[in-house]
Amino acid sequence: MTEVKTVATMAIDGQKPGTSGLRKKTRVFMQPNYLENFIQSIFNAVAEQGVDFKESLLVVGGDGRYYNRTAIQTIVKMAVANGFAKVMVGRGGIVSTPAMSAVIRRRGAVGGIVLSASHNPGGIDADFGVKYNITNGGPAPEAVTEQIFKQTQQIKEYLTIDYPNIDLDKEASFRVGDTEVIVFDPVLDYVAVMQSLFDFAALRRLFDSGFRMVFDAMHAVTGPYAKEIFENRLGAAVGTVLNAIPLEDFGGGHPDPNQVYAADLVARMSGSDAPDFGAASDGDGDRNLILGRDFFVTPGDSLALIAAYAKDAIPGYADGLAGIARSMPTSSAADLVAHSLGVPLYETPTGWKFFGNLMDAGLCTICGEESFGTGSNHIREKDGIWAVLCWLSILAKTGESVSGIVHKHWEKFGRNYFQRHDFEGLEVELANKMVNLLREKLPSLSGRSFAESRVKEADDFNYADPVDGSVSSKQGIRIILEDGSRVVIRLSGTGTEGATLRLYLESYKQDGGTADIDSVLGSLAKETLALLELKQHCGVEVPTVIT
Ligand code: G1P
Ligand code: ZN
Repeated sequence: MTEVKTVATMAIDGQKPGTSGLRKKTRVFMQPNYLENFIQSIFNAVAEQGVDFKESLLVVGGDGRYYNRTAIQTIVKMAVANGFAKVMVGRGGIVSTPAMSAVIRRRGAVGGIVLSASHNPGGIDADFGVKYNITNGGPAPEAVTEQIFKQTQQIKEYLTIDYPNIDLDKEASFRVGDTEVIVFDPVLDYVAVMQSLFDFAALRRLFDSGFRMVFDAMHAVTGPYAKEIFENRLGAAVGTVLNAIPLEDFGGGHPDPNQVYAADLVARMSGSDAPDFGAASDGDGDRNLILGRDFFVTPGDSLALIAAYAKDAIPGYADGLAGIARSMPTSSAADLVAHSLGVPLYETPTGWKFFGNLMDAGLCTICGEESFGTGSNHIREKDGIWAVLCWLSILAKTGESVSGIVHKHWEKFGRNYFQRHDFEGLEVELANKMVNLLREKLPSLSGRSFAESRVKEADDFNYADPVDGSVSSKQGIRIILEDGSRVVIRLSGTGTEGATLRLYLESYKQDGGTADIDSVLGSLAKETLALLELKQHCGVEVPTVIT
């Protein structure tokens, strides 16, 4: 039964990983050989680096969405056939992205396969995804994803075994052929990492004092982690965690923790009898939304605040920060904190994979993206529950409200007014053409009047990794104005249908943060749309989502 079977296959077009792994419609992944080709290509790329599978542990798990279980059975059989010494599979097939990163690092795995399309909806007619994480626990960098893609273009066969499905629901350890397969509970590894960073006793005292919180797990992967940490370990009231049971279709919702898709949570956080603190995480547990009573903390401000308070409020960072990193489109609120702490600030392209080298080299401790991602060098992924624990630590330390903390910060540092406008469902060719035309116009923009100011610089962001020198080009068009305002324009690399245009608008003011955000950013938005000629090219002018 465990005899290795070599199955002939043919290269399938379009298996190129994007911002975060390979994401496609679930039905695309369900096509014959589609998943198998991609998994074998990952294995081939890893083998090409000289890894000996007979000495290696592979971790496998996903966010529990539709097709997760089936895909895991396929992957376990292929891992056995490819000769891995050990394969660890999350119980129920479920491992959050940050837990995957923690497990790879703690258990010395060669890597891990995460089955998730993150914040994209789940279901047979929705999205599925596969991402490979390397030995440092982080998403494979571009050099590796390029290798994987190359393998997908030349694949001729994959290896598997004929074997009954393993029982995913019982923790156990057993042999399949020469491989030890272990079904384990990743929550314990994850809790141990959180305990090594945060003062659980102090957080318990916060809840003992009557502090009230709600956490919306959005029927996605964080439910079991959040219940264990917030309710069982920290003593938050039973029922603090909403939608705690992971479902294959996330209860029909869109597991993206922003004010649009977490509207129920936003409603619960409004009014004078609302809880003190509200938070949510996404499909695979790496994003976070932070809310106070009637108050939304932008991810850029959240990153800046966590960095500002980390040394004093969180034992894991008592020695201070080596540096802070943010993706280029993220607001520069964190830059002001880095400056005041006297530590370097790194600006990287969009996507968590660009932070890995910086953290491995000890250059940065805390990093974040405007897309509701924040994290640190405790793992190599962004981490939703970690961000919530950071905020709880800040609240416990200061005794202030969420809005009180943010207002104080704005008074001290000024406010980076920031919004992202997404235009989803555009026709790919039209959107590409529009962005290419804008790219051609960039050299002529300098000095031109724009949104009550003038264009100081306009370029397309190129990144040279300070650690390995690798260069990533065309990472987003930037129009920087003389008054310090800025707009960034890029196309999403995580969608599965059509193109999504993202406009990132930012304007800095030392006004205590009290101005109306729509009026601060309004002309920037309007003039960018005119410059892009969005209506003429793509027939739309109103964003689908504003975050
Ligand atoms: C989006 C976000 C990006 C994040 C990625 C994965 O990518 O913008 O910051 O790292 O999802 O969560 P995009 O669709 O913009 O390429
Ligand atoms: Zn995610």
